[in-house]
Amino acid sequence: MSRPYSRAVETGKQERPTVGSVEESARALAQWFAANQRDLPWRAAVPLAFAESEVAEVSGAYPVIGDMDQKATAARLDDPRPPSRRDPYRTWISEIMLQQTQVSTVISYFERWMRRFPDVGALAAAEEQDVLEAWAGLGYYSRARNVLATARMVMAEHGGLFPWRREQLLGLKGVGEYTAGAIASLAFNLPEPILDGNLVRVFSRLYALDFLPDSKAGKAGYWDLASTWAQAHDPALVNEALMELGALICVPRGPDCSLCPLTAHCSAYRSGSQERFPPTRSRKESEGIAGFTVAAFRTNPYSGVAETLLYTPRKGERLAGLLTFPIFVVADLAALKTAWRQSLPGLPEGPLRTRAITVAHSITHHRYSLRIAEVHLEATGRKDAHALPDGYAWAPVAELDRLLVSSLPKKIWTGLRSDGRQPGI
Ligand code: ADE
Repeated sequence: MSRPYSRAVETGKQERPTVGSVEESARALAQWFAANQRDLPWRAAVPLAFAESEVAEVSGAYPVIGDMDQKATAARLDDPRPPSRRDPYRTWISEIMLQQTQVSTVISYFERWMRRFPDVGALAAAEEQDVLEAWAGLGYYSRARNVLATARMVMAEHGGLFPWRREQLLGLKGVGEYTAGAIASLAFNLPEPILDGNLVRVFSRLYALDFLPDSKAGKAGYWDLASTWAQAHDPALVNEALMELGALICVPRGPDCSLCPLTAHCSAYRSGSQERFPPTRSRKESEGIAGFTVAAFRTNPYSGVAETLLYTPRKGERLAGLLTFPIFVVADLAALKTAWRQSLPGLPEGPLRTRAITVAHSITHHRYSLRIAEVHLEATGRKDAHALPDGYAWAPVAELDRLLVSSLPKKIWTGLRSDGRQPGI
């Protein structure tokens, strides 16, 4: 039985992998990737987007356009951008889209987006409303606002050329450690680490890591390994190959290790304990949340369209940023009625009734068990049209299939229709 890496390193019984010791595995992995990677549109070798190629052509090395100031231009001449492997703009947009959305969903959004906003200049010049419309269906709209803000920053502060250094990338809106590493490595082939769930699983199995991935020690340990791997061989290939291995072979349940290029180096494979890694928090630590979710319906006083009330929890609240039916953690219907009236004092009256449906759903460390209550609000003319507290909004019932992107509200919406009714219509 192999010794868990973190304990072994702490006690000096196992050496931290070094760039040299990882090189052979990194090469094998890159070779596997070259032969087996999925054909995805952001990986295609397309010519640099128009704005970028024009800059490169006009200015020789890389420099002076737009309203970049003298100092920035001088700095750039001193620090020429490395040649890009692929268009940083396409790399950035795909990585942001892929953050909370599956590859199969992202493909068509990405292709449409690139037809509409083919380069960073086209995006920077777009109206926010057009950008949100192109994003519609991907959810987490702050991502769309951030990409627009970043495109404008790239035009105004970087002369229209995408930055490549990790620190510069981290200064862009919506670009965190993962995305900065992804752009620097995938687009510019710089030896910068990336870390996502796929890489955590691959590393955890390779080295039989017993850290909880979201613990402080775990994070530091995984980033350390990611950094070692990114330096061991071609960073663009190695980083994307690690993601691909995690997505295609080193999957959470039932990995088919006979197809893996790294079995000779894998501690979990050697001991037949692949599924024990990465370690998870025990079920005890997951918190049960019982209560109600409310589906409130009205007819829009202006358009006559059937609408339902949705809520986007604020930062610091559970499910922050996730568009959902409002949730109330209360014990019974009487408490729900009170909480409902207190939260939404401006709403017209309507009897809250419970439906014989309970939705059960687990997200990270929470297990939800929600009874569904439904209310049809009386039409009171136009005076209630603007009376919603922060975070609440009316959404057309006919748009719910498109608007609800995460599993919990989708399950609630399915539950509401489970008796064959189309509520609210
Ligand atoms: N998920 C995040 N980045 C990805 C990429 N470049 N290819 C496939 N899946 C991804």
